[in-house]
Amino acid sequence: MHNIDIDLVEMTLDVMKYAIHRITETDPKMNMPKSEAELKSLTGETITPKGIGGEKAFQLWKDVLVKATVPIDHPRHLAFVPASPTRAAVMFDLVTSASSIHGSYWLEGAGGIFCENEAMRWLVSLTGLPEGAFGVFTSGGTAANLSAIVTARDYWRSLDASNNQKRGLIITSSGAHSSVIAMAKVIDSDIVLIDTEEALEGNKLEQTIRNLYKEDRSRLFAVVATGGTTNAGIIDDLKGIAEVCESEKIWMHVDAAYGGGALVSNVTRPLFAGIEKADSITIDPHKWLFSPYDCGAILYKNPALAKKAHEQEGSYLEIFKDEGAKGFNPSDYQIQLTRRVRGLPLWFSLAMHGTDRYKQAIERGMELAQNAGKMIADLPHVELVRNPGLSCVLFRRIGWKTEDYRDWTFQNQRNGFALVAPTKWKKNGVVETVARFCFINPDTTEKDIEMILETMV
Ligand SMILES: Cc1ncc(COP(=O)(O)O)c(C=O)c1O
Repeated sequence: MHNIDIDLVEMTLDVMKYAIHRITETDPKMNMPKSEAELKSLTGETITPKGIGGEKAFQLWKDVLVKATVPIDHPRHLAFVPASPTRAAVMFDLVTSASSIHGSYWLEGAGGIFCENEAMRWLVSLTGLPEGAFGVFTSGGTAANLSAIVTARDYWRSLDASNNQKRGLIITSSGAHSSVIAMAKVIDSDIVLIDTEEALEGNKLEQTIRNLYKEDRSRLFAVVATGGTTNAGIIDDLKGIAEVCESEKIWMHVDAAYGGGALVSNVTRPLFAGIEKADSITIDPHKWLFSPYDCGAILYKNPALAKKAHEQEGSYLEIFKDEGAKGFNPSDYQIQLTRRVRGLPLWFSLAMHGTDRYKQAIERGMELAQNAGKMIADLPHVELVRNPGLSCVLFRRIGWKTEDYRDWTFQNQRNGFALVAPTKWKKNGVVETVARFCFINPDTTEKDIEMILETMV
């Protein structure tokens, strides 16, 4: 394995050239997916007993396969929650891979985990969680939410042995991300969804708890509030929710996977008042903190509770916990054992650019949303559905039906121009298909927005 031949060196240089080109590219192509049958007919067999050779495989990647993937950082990719990793972070993602680090335990990954922890300290400081709070990087928001609710349930069961026999119950709102409902299913818990068109308010939560049957109340172990809904950037009444959770002694989890980036800005930080009272918080650096995939994060007020819930035992793991190996072990605090040091690209980018640059880039996302809102308000063929929330803008093309939005999305993508997708919005009980922008990429311009709006005329 260790005999490096000249072909491999050349291949590495080719790969590096490709990476340099991609990292410095300012105008990536939008691209379109192809069917699996089309891709297969273009590539032929790639996995064979003798191998097809690195050169051929790489050529297929460049000529065919990468062209069937949408670059998530395209400045006119404004659908879902796009991403825009800094060039520094992408570059350091290569270094992370090349360094071959096992990021589970300090014994093996100390230097990398140290860097992750530096970045984590900054994240924790944004939340205002009390002294002792800490967290770890996960594969994304779904894994972070799951790690948090497993910890919450474990804590609840530790309080009273009779809870071990009970199926858990979680309360959240209809604005919560789909992963919250999916993860409740994973842990076989029930979920009460409070129907909200705007923010979930503390008094609505209180009322819902009061209306639970006694048996259901005894199963309730967590409330999941959202710090920036995926659809519209709405922040729940975190202060009110925190008060209810405190008085009812229920775990409060805040899913700020998307919105967490806005904690950096003095303008939007007050909207998150109450987040510092949470028991756990999800923030995804691969969304609005410019990290490459995959990088989520889960933060705990009391990390010891997470350790109790997640630490794995095994004779082969004992050495990691020995005094001689003493240090922080990220695997003890979330669901995954073997892990990449996925916080490392974030650390490098933060260290290189400084946190002020992050603030500027995040505020630019919100400025783009405000400017898009103004442009929409001034145009006759479109109108705002609600005022922009964080960096999300919901708007309608007057007179369009669901199929018009769908055709428009595919048309823009087929033209290699933009990826902007519709969503649904419920107002006064009526559900409507609308268009949505989500701004993450600071390289998006007002001109891009103008051109996209023109495609709706
Ligand atoms: C609020 C929120 N929570 C959780 C998730 C899930 O995160 P991931 O896709 O990283 O698992 C998302 C994804 O968009 C989200 O917006």
